[in-house]
Amino acid sequence: MPSVEHGTGTSMPTPWTAPDILEKLDRLATCTEKAGEISRLFLTPEHAQALSLVRGWMQEAGLETRLDASATLAGTRPSDRPGMPRLLIGSHIDTVRGAGRYDGCLGVIMAIALAARLRDAELPYALEIRAFGDEEGVRFPVTLTGAHATAGTFDPAWLGAADDDGITLGEAFESFGTDPGNLARCKPADVFAYLEIHIEQGPVLEAANLPVGVVTAINGAARWELTITGRAGHAGTVPMAQRRDALVAASAMVLAARRIAIERPDVVATIGRLVVSPGAANVIPGECILTLDLRAPEDAARSAAAREILAAFQHIAAENRTSLSAQLLHDAPATACDPRLQSRLAASIAAAGLPALHLPSGAGHDAMAIASLCPIGMLFVRCAGGISHHPDESVTVDDVATALDVMLHTLQNLDPTAFLSP
Ligand code: HGY
Ligand code: MN
Ligand code: MN
Repeated sequence: MPSVEHGTGTSMPTPWTAPDILEKLDRLATCTEKAGEISRLFLTPEHAQALSLVRGWMQEAGLETRLDASATLAGTRPSDRPGMPRLLIGSHIDTVRGAGRYDGCLGVIMAIALAARLRDAELPYALEIRAFGDEEGVRFPVTLTGAHATAGTFDPAWLGAADDDGITLGEAFESFGTDPGNLARCKPADVFAYLEIHIEQGPVLEAANLPVGVVTAINGAARWELTITGRAGHAGTVPMAQRRDALVAASAMVLAARRIAIERPDVVATIGRLVVSPGAANVIPGECILTLDLRAPEDAARSAAAREILAAFQHIAAENRTSLSAQLLHDAPATACDPRLQSRLAASIAAAGLPALHLPSGAGHDAMAIASLCPIGMLFVRCAGGISHHPDESVTVDDVATALDVMLHTLQNLDPTAFLSP
């Protein structure tokens, strides 16, 4: 269980140093579905709990706060004049099940720290912090919903997506107190760029012995839900040759996806969820539902791998006298980070006396959805062993301090006119 709450809010505003940021992340980690792990899914009581903590910290940093129709919490500086070019800095506060405490949340708390540190700074742009509530796409079979709403690309059909309890996204928004009818109004005006700070979730910075790095591009990702239908039967009486065992077919598919991905450089395939029905020891599985997550830096490579994997799945289904249906849940193209923002971040890393390593992101991020709204840039922070989506996820206070310095330098030297079309 994460460390116990450090008091019930501070009477004195915090100076927003790296230790303060880590202390706030410890507190955020206590907003969880169940004790002993960090699980904070979209539009849940623990999401609401996290939002009230983050809202308090935004206000402590001098920001005015507003929860939009997609349950994204926005923090804006009252001193910023309407019509100024706007910089968004954000990330997500939802988690996978059994998560670490830094994926997403580090970027949100660091963004608030930057706003606090620049509270009285005269900037040539408006600064807006966004805490998205659904980057992981764990509760509903859709993902990046808050970031898509911000970009104006939220698909109203997603409101019908249902969670494991049959609650639709639209119903969940209403129970949460937001109005899905207003989703079109989540899109802020005049945004010239978006920046996101995020743990690397990979081993590259650690291997290079560097605290931070500049993201070049975010790998494209596609996600399917597949249903294999065989026939349930008595485990003791149906001869092996007469079985239509959905789990045997699913097992062959898992191994086929792995084989095909290994054969294709840079392609990664994951079957992360497998539901066996009816799930009794003495019943032949009649149905299996599994998810396929497929990624690659190049979209053509990912599509070719998808074609080969899905064809192999169809062949396996037929071989096992089962049927297969596939639903594409998510398909995000590989997304390039803006070269101007990459250079700006690299210059600030150099100003900190460090080499600027440029690296791709194997993980997906809110920035992928924001890229249709404006140029995006990302700063990666080293995480131990590249471990993520796991309780052992960790960062060091020194690396967070370095990232804070680099981002402060970036924000103090960012020129919006470089991004405004003539
Ligand atoms: O799956 C991802 O890459 C991200 O953590 N949602
Ligand atoms: Mn994640
Ligand atoms: Mn993330």
